[in-house]
Amino acid sequence: NKRIVSGIQPTGNLHLGNYLGAIRNWVVMQNEMKDGDSCVFFLADLHAITMPQAPDELAENIRNMAATLLASGVNPERAVFFAQSDVAAHSEMAWLLNCVARIGWLNRMTQFKEKSGKNREGASVGLYTYPVLQAADVMLYQATHVPVGEDQKQHLELARDIATKFNNDYDDKIFTLPEPIIQKTAARVMSLRNGSSKMSKSDPSDLSRINLTDSNDDIAQKIRKAKTDPDPIPENEEGLADRPEAKNLLGIYSALKGEALGDVLQQFAGQGFGQFKPALADLVVESIAPIRDKLSSFKNDPAEIDRILSQGAEKAAVIAEKTLDKAYRSMGLRRRS
Ligand code: TYM
Repeated sequence: NKRIVSGIQPTGNLHLGNYLGAIRNWVVMQNEMKDGDSCVFFLADLHAITMPQAPDELAENIRNMAATLLASGVNPERAVFFAQSDVAAHSEMAWLLNCVARIGWLNRMTQFKEKSGKNREGASVGLYTYPVLQAADVMLYQATHVPVGEDQKQHLELARDIATKFNNDYDDKIFTLPEPIIQKTAARVMSLRNGSSKMSKSDPSDLSRINLTDSNDDIAQKIRKAKTDPDPIPENEEGLADRPEAKNLLGIYSALKGEALGDVLQQFAGQGFGQFKPALADLVVESIAPIRDKLSSFKNDPAEIDRILSQGAEKAAVIAEKTLDKAYRSMGLRRRS
């Protein structure tokens, strides 16, 4: 049976990269589950505090992200849906795993290097050990499948290493090894301003990303202003080599339309971006507008969101506590029971 587990940080708005790289896939997997399969989706708020957050803003972002995921199709009747900090087992398991993971493994994590930047000595310890918390997130639920974007692949490999070492060290087949599920198209949606950096919540320029809350006019304007090159659209994928901005826009079109990139290229070959961009803008609007409209109704009902998250946390804790208990005991720690 499949146990599908994934999370997202409640920082800023959900953007097209998160949506195409991960969330859309969560919803498809949730809706296509077979009997005996299950889904666990959460807001990674404990991950969010590895970087400075204004408390009021974080509190609001948690509710907003919950509303956005619900509007995107996460269904609390079908998936266990909650906020990470509501389930204490995540923090507890992270500590146990901190004692299993090796410093050398964490030193290889590229995201830490990017996020800590030049001021590594001034980064929080939490930012450094963040991938261990992420391993705890999936291991607590014995995840088999973890739908994520390309940038999370290394963290998932680390989770597999930690699970393997735990199983070996404590002579117990306690943990399932999680498998990342990374889609072929839109696994890495790039910034609209710079084809070599990924679309990101933390990019200071709002023109670099399309948020799921953007108005139709904003979307059209951002796509019109998106960086491209003067060459026409090529006939095949080889023609996109060394054209990262062109490749990104065509990739977004292909992912949203559900058509292979090769077919999209055939359709637009020879046209300039002046012609292609309005078609792309229409498609993005068509895909996002229904989510944005649902979102406003959820946002009007914060009490309902709190109720959904609390109920989800109760369900999650039942699963997580079982695994945590096994992990404590296998390490020789006492458990009250
Ligand atoms: P986060 O919040 O940065 O992103 C959420 C999901 O969106 C994907 N993503 C992208 N995909 C394609 N193109 C992009 N430009 C893009 N930007 C983001 C991410 O790969 C991710 O799947 N550490 C995680 C959250 C997390 C988690 C977990 C995920 C915490 N615990 C356990 C899976 C399992 C993060 O910061 O994702």
